[in-house]
Amino acid sequence: MKEITPPMGWNSWNTFTDKIDEKLVIETADALSHNGLAEAGYKYVIIDDCWAEKERDKNGMLAADKQKFPHGMKYVADYVHSKGLKFGMYSCCGTRTCANYPGSFGHEWEDAKQFASWGVDYLKYDNCFKPNCADDPLLYRRMGLALANCGRDIVFAACQWGTENVSDWISTTGAATYRSTGDIKDCWSSVLGIANSQIEALSATPNCFNDMDMLVVGMHGNGGNGYIAAGGSTDTEYETHFALWAMMASPLIIGADVRHLDEVSRCILTNSEVIAIDQDEGRYAPYVLRCASNLHNTFTLVRLLSDGSAALGMFNFNDTAALVSVNFFDVGLSVRGMSMRVRDALHHEDLGVRRELLSATIEPHGSAVYRCTAVND
Ligand code: GLA
Repeated sequence: MKEITPPMGWNSWNTFTDKIDEKLVIETADALSHNGLAEAGYKYVIIDDCWAEKERDKNGMLAADKQKFPHGMKYVADYVHSKGLKFGMYSCCGTRTCANYPGSFGHEWEDAKQFASWGVDYLKYDNCFKPNCADDPLLYRRMGLALANCGRDIVFAACQWGTENVSDWISTTGAATYRSTGDIKDCWSSVLGIANSQIEALSATPNCFNDMDMLVVGMHGNGGNGYIAAGGSTDTEYETHFALWAMMASPLIIGADVRHLDEVSRCILTNSEVIAIDQDEGRYAPYVLRCASNLHNTFTLVRLLSDGSAALGMFNFNDTAALVSVNFFDVGLSVRGMSMRVRDALHHEDLGVRRELLSATIEPHGSAVYRCTAVND
């Protein structure tokens, strides 16, 4: 199924890895529908790897782990749907998943039908244990065709880590999103590495969103078997991480334990004006502006939005505060008789009309997000 805007939801992997069960999924669905996250747009509840029995059943079908999911997956899906949410699951294009459970290679059609019968709305499809006989486009097209014929609308979320020139061929597979980077960790250097790998390689892939991996906002160094929660990040870094993902129209899939989310993280994740930029239906690609007068490691991402305004995300990757400026001429404004009406999208504040230049002092690892509308003087 095509998604018109980047999918938003929650995924079990970042915090819980293999420690998942029915109770967690049910409590997560409850939490999303009570704490404002579902209302903000987070609708997919996605179970990642480690949900299955270690081997297929005697009929060759995937089977839910009986200890973790005693009532089976349909029961869990029904519960998630009863909350007005959507249900996501995980498989892999190879013979085994990345955590060594059965993969879908050679079983794509029966697995797609089984996911449909359980009521799955979204399938994350990973990239481990691939047979040598098949290249990546073929492996992803195989599941894409099976999903397109399984009798249910299922969002196909390719998790292919940005290898094999994925952006060149992924829109031929039926995927709605594609992972363009390796796995994220909950620390500034990881967020920085992912952002830096993406900002110079931004592309609008038709019908397929660039997935920069699950959000770490709110993890605070918890869970993830230690290695994903790699020390945690500060609130400023979480805010910057969220603004980067939104400016680049990445899916927004929360990886924290939403049953125990701190209030600052909840506010970052539900910032309606930042989410509106992520979800803009114009689907224009962002571009990067590096102004000569600005400090190294500062830059502005600009994205044309469907109402004709421009979103400006200013970022400071330095360890000290920095002044970041954008000349409106560089965004396309006429130098004669035109200005920008500026709205601070992070703080929901109108800043009035600005001529020629927008500047902000940005704290270390910080960001500012503006929505600018051209006006005649
Ligand atoms: C890969 C993916 C992760 C997660 C794990 C599960 O590393 O990139 O997002 O799904 O596999 O094993």
